[in-house]
Formats: sequence, structure tokens, C-alpha cells
Amino acid sequence: MKKLIIKGSKELTGEIHIGGAKNSVVALIPATCLTKGKCVIHNVPNISDVAMLIQMMEYLGSKVTYENEVLTIDNKDLKEKPIPTEFSSCLRASYYFMGSLGGHFKHAEISFPGGCTIGARPIDIHLDSFKKQGFKVVEKDGTYTMSALKIKGKDIFFDFPSVGATINVMLSAVLAEGTTRIINAAREPEIGNVAEFLNNMGAMITGAGSAEIVIEGVKELHGAEVTVIPDRIEAGTYIIIGSLLGRNLKISGINKDHLISLTSKLTDAGVKLKLNKDSIVVSKSKNLKAINVKTTFYPGFPTDLGQPMSAFLTQCKGESLFEETIYENRLRHIPYLTTMGANIQSLEKKAVIIGPSQLRGRKVKATDLRAGASLLVAGMIANGTTEVFNVEHLLRGYENVVDKLNDCGADIKLIDD
Ligand code: UD1
Repeated sequence: MKKLIIKGSKELTGEIHIGGAKNSVVALIPATCLTKGKCVIHNVPNISDVAMLIQMMEYLGSKVTYENEVLTIDNKDLKEKPIPTEFSSCLRASYYFMGSLGGHFKHAEISFPGGCTIGARPIDIHLDSFKKQGFKVVEKDGTYTMSALKIKGKDIFFDFPSVGATINVMLSAVLAEGTTRIINAAREPEIGNVAEFLNNMGAMITGAGSAEIVIEGVKELHGAEVTVIPDRIEAGTYIIIGSLLGRNLKISGINKDHLISLTSKLTDAGVKLKLNKDSIVVSKSKNLKAINVKTTFYPGFPTDLGQPMSAFLTQCKGESLFEETIYENRLRHIPYLTTMGANIQSLEKKAVIIGPSQLRGRKVKATDLRAGASLLVAGMIANGTTEVFNVEHLLRGYENVVDKLNDCGADIKLIDD
């Protein structure tokens, strides 16, 4: 186990460069299974989820190299094999092998995907969609086996715009016979990135990024290249930190259009941001005002930034209402913020945060990836020293987080616990 030791209240100045999006790359790597060709993915972040996916690709027979943020995957010897629990339990995105191996080989076998324990996280929309496409899906002891003689293009309506199901159906539909339409698709930018890659491989997808995606099935895909889009959640986390501790802190390598829900909320709270084409400059703001934040699907305020944002709200004057609408268990970091001195009353998926409160360094535990990000923000603004235990969660999604912050003036150590 690892922990962070954070000496708080350090001013940050300089530049933090944002890496490729975790939630894109974790779909792009399994997407390569749709071809026996060679694929090159640029701007790949050095995070533990990527290391795990590389191991999974090697297990399936791929030759993989990863150097200077470029991942090359040669699938000449790719084989369809059952994905065992020791792989699938490590990350949620392992479910993308259902769509990609299923789409290519018409057969896939995988144990129930892992990931952060932030709610029940069922995959019924994925499974119902696969069935509509002609797959027979059998579940036994937590392992799903799907097989089809023929994958059929269909109209598929989602009750809920699920990110994972949207990507999974794109993966399983690109080699289908006929046209697939996903209606009420998720619109997150990562979906556009995956569609771009699939189209580079020879797929015919239109509408990705809108609520209706149309996929004309093709016979075969070939090797291709793609660049991972900037990680809007990593960027957002550093922008939040900069608004509390920055002195002209530059967050570079971003797509500011993907961050509008955050930047507009921060501006409402009184943060001054200088928005450039691909960077944002942010300084510590005084007299922050309470605001209300409700997470929802894109282009709404992202659930993955809700937890770091709740740490920001402890510094705003007045009563902020924070509401999570996607997951049931996204507020498990709140008791730790309270231990550190925050004034928060929470019930189920809502929290009233009364500020500003001077936070104090304490021993706290990251219960999931973004809870870790929230406690990182809290520890950095607290007086004294904060120890954050279980930070493996944080390292799954934030590349070189300690170096990036220390290079700008933070005092953080990552040590074995
Ligand atoms: C993805 C992201 C995650 C982000 C989330 C919402 C990845 C690897 N993870 O997760 O970081 O927080 O989008 O932006 O990209 N649901 C069902 N049935 C399903 C699918 C989803 O009920 O078949 C419900 C679940 O309760 C879940 C919610 O929808 O809580 C969100 O799911 P979804 O949008 O699919 O998110 P993930 O793909 O799990």
C-alpha cells in the first residue's frame, strides 16, 4: 500500500501539463482488438490502468511497446481468450473487451468488471444491447460468455446515456451486418475520440458526441493511429487546486471546451481564470462565494470532478449545495473532509457545505480514485501535514501527480505504507 504525505498551504506557480484522457485510452486499447493490424496510440498517460491493459493485451497475444507516451500494439498474433478475474477486477474498462473481442471474434468471455466502488454500477444496458445485436449472453458465477453467429445492425435505445454502453455498442457494431443506431447515446468527449480511432481503422461512424450515433457495419478493420484527447478530469482537478493555491499557475495541453461546466462554476464562485486556446492560467482567489453544484452527464458538471469540487466548496463563503446524481456512493470522502475541519451536512447523494473553513492536516483514506483527488485538494489547502492512505486509487488516474505538483512548489511525498 502507498500513502501521500502532504505539507499543506504551499503556493503553486509554474506549469502543469495535462496528459491523455484515462477514460479515452482505457477504451482505445481494447478497441485495437477489432483488427489484426498494427495500431499506434499517441499521448498515452503513464497510469496504472494503462499498465494493466498492456498486460491484458500481451495475454491475448499482442506485441506491445510503450515509449515516450506512444503505445504501439501489433495484433498479428491476437487470439480470443477468456479474460480472467485477476485482470477484469482491476479496472472497470475491462468490459470494453466484451465489445471488441465480441465484435471481432463473435465470442468473448470475461468476469464482471472491477473499478471504483462508488455504486452498484450494473452493466445491464451493455448486455441488453449485445442481445439485440444477436449475441447470446450467458452469466455463470460472475463470468459472462457472449457468442453470436451473426452480429446484426439494430436500433438500440438507451434508458440512460451510459458512457460505457455507448462505447461498447460502437465496438460491437462496427463489424456488424447492416446499420446500428444508438439513440440517447452518451455525449462525453471520450466517445468522439474512440469513434475517431475506429473510423481511422476503416469503420463508418457518424454522430459520435451527439445523442444519436449511426454505425454502418463494414467487413474488416485495419491498423491505424490516433491521439488521446487531453484528460479533462486531470485538468479540472489542477484548475481547482490552482484556484485555491495558484499564483499564475498554467494548466496546459487542455481542451477548454471540454471544461466549460467547471470553468463557469468556478467563475460564478469568484475565481479569475485566463482562458487561452489550449491552456488556462489560474491564481488563488479571495472572497470565494458559495455556489450550487449538481453532477450529471456531459455536457453537465462531471461526476468525476464532483469530489475534488466539494473540497473547493469548503473554501467558499456561505452555504453551497452539492448534489451527485450518477452514483450512489460518491460521498464517502465527506467524513474525511469533516475530520479535517470542514462544516458539511450530508444525506445520501446531497451535501450542504458551509464555508469557509480552515482545514487541518489529518490522517485520511482514499476510498476511490476521485475521493483520493478530493483529499489531495484538501490536504494541499490544509494547515499542517495530511497523510492520505490507499492512494493506489489516485495513481490509477493521475499521471506523475506528485512530480507535477512538486515541480510547481507543492511539498508531497509518495511512500510505501
Ligand atoms: C464512465 C467513466 C467514469 C465516469 C462515468 C460517468 C470510464 C472507464 N469510466 O463510467 O469515470 O464516472 O462514465 O461519466 O470511462 N448504468 C446502469 N446500467 C448500465 C450502465 C450504467 O444502470 O448498463 C448506470 C450505473 O448506475 C452507473 C451510471 O449508469 O452508475 C453511469 O454509468 P456509465 O455512464 O456507463 O459510466 P461508466 O462507463 O461506468
